[in-house]
Amino acid sequence: MNRFDVAVIGAGAAGMMAAAEAGRRGRSVLVVDHARAPGEKIRISGGGRCNFTNLGATPANFLSANPRFAISALKRYTPRDFIALVERHRIAWHEKKLGQLFCDGSARQIVEMLVAEMAMGGVTLRLATPVSGVEHGPDGFRLALAGETVEAASLVVATGGLSIPKMGATDFGYRIARQFGIAILPTRPGLVPLTLDPALLEKTAPLAGLSVEGRASFGKTGFDEALLFTHRGISGPAILQISSFWKEGEPIRIALAPSVDLLARLREARATNGRQAPATLLGEVLPKRLALFVSAEAKARPHLADCSDAVLTAIDASVNGWMLRPNGSEGYRTAEVTVGGVDTAELDQKTMMAKRVPGLFFVGEVVDVTGWLGGYNFQWAWASGWAAGQAA
Ligand code: FDA
Repeated sequence: MNRFDVAVIGAGAAGMMAAAEAGRRGRSVLVVDHARAPGEKIRISGGGRCNFTNLGATPANFLSANPRFAISALKRYTPRDFIALVERHRIAWHEKKLGQLFCDGSARQIVEMLVAEMAMGGVTLRLATPVSGVEHGPDGFRLALAGETVEAASLVVATGGLSIPKMGATDFGYRIARQFGIAILPTRPGLVPLTLDPALLEKTAPLAGLSVEGRASFGKTGFDEALLFTHRGISGPAILQISSFWKEGEPIRIALAPSVDLLARLREARATNGRQAPATLLGEVLPKRLALFVSAEAKARPHLADCSDAVLTAIDASVNGWMLRPNGSEGYRTAEVTVGGVDTAELDQKTMMAKRVPGLFFVGEVVDVTGWLGGYNFQWAWASGWAAGQAA
C-alpha cells in the first residue's frame, strides 16, 4: 500500500496550492483528481486569461455565514504573495479594471505554474483517478482509488463547488464532510445570470444583447457595473454580483442610469420642450431600444407636456428604481461559484483543519466562503490552500 504524509482530493486552484506548499515543506504529497487535466476551471477562467487575483481583496469582498473566518488566511497569503509567485514564473500580467489582474497571455500559464510548483515539491499527481471512498483510522486516512488503496496522515478536501457539472464538479467534498459529521450550510448557485418569467421575458425580448452601465442592488448591497439583457433574463457583471446575495422570490432593484437625476431632467424638459417625446429624452441617457421599452412600461403619453408628475415619477422609477423579480437563475449549469458549503464554524481559521477531525482539511470553494466577481474567488483558493499547505 502506498503511504503519503498528505493526500489532496482535487487538483483545482486550492488543491494545487495546498499540495505545492505541503511539498515545499518536505511532506510527501499525493494529489488525485477524477478529471483528465488539472485546473480546468483555471483554464477557462477570465475568458481564458484567468482573473487570478484582485489587488483590493479584503474580507469585505466575501460572503460567509461568518464574515470574520476568512480574515486570517487572506492576511497571511495576500494578492501580493500570488503576484510574486506569478512573477517568479515570468508570467506577464495586467490590471484590467477595479484591481482585477489577468494574464497577458493565457490562463494555461497559471495551471502550468502550479503544476511546476507541485513538481518542485515532489508532489505525485494522479489524474483520471476517481476516489470511491475515504476511511479514517488511527494512522490517518485511507483512500480507495480504482484498484488501489492509499494511506495519508492528512487529507485535504479541495473538490470545489457544484458549479459547471459538465467540467467535473461534484458534491464529493460535501459528502466527505457529512461522513465525518461536519455541518454544511445550504448551497446555491452564485455569480449566475438571473432568469425572468415568460410574460416579462416576452416584453424584454427586444432588449436581448443590450448592455448598459447600471446598478443592481439587493437590500443594502449594490454593484455599479454593466447589466446585460439576455434571451433568458438578465446578466452582466452587476447582475452576477448581486445574484450571490439575491434570495429567491425577492425583487432586485435596478438603476439603468444611476448617475442621472432623471426626474429633474424630465421636469425641466416638460417645462422647456413639452413637445418632446419622453422616449426621445430617455434616448439621451439610455440606448434607444431601452428608452422605448421604459417609456412603454411607464405608459408615457406621446408628449412630455401631457405627462403628469405621476407619469414622470413612474418613468423615473422604471429607469432608476426598477424592482425586477427574477423567477430563478440559470443554476449550476452556468454559475461561476457555489455559495454556502462546509460550515466555517467547523474549521480552524488559521489552518482550515476540521476542529473535530484532526488531519482533515477543507479548502477553496467547498468551504462557505464565496468571493465577489473579480479575482476574489481565486484569491480565496490560493489563501485557504496555502494555509492548509502550512499545516497538513
Ligand atoms: P476547483 O473547482 O478549481 O477544483 C476542484 C477540483 O476537484 C476539480 O479539478 C475537480 O475535477 C475535482 N473534483 C471534484 N470532484 C471530485 C471527485 N469526486 N474526485 C476527484 N476529484 C474531484 N474566479 C476568479 O477568481 N477569477 C476568475 O476569472 C474566475 N473565472 C471563472 C470562470 C468560470 C467559467 C467559472 C466556472 C469559475 C470562475 N471562477 C473565477 C471561480 C473559480 O474558478 C473557483 O472559485 C475556483 O476554481 C475554486 O477553486 P477550488 O480549487 O476550490 O475548486
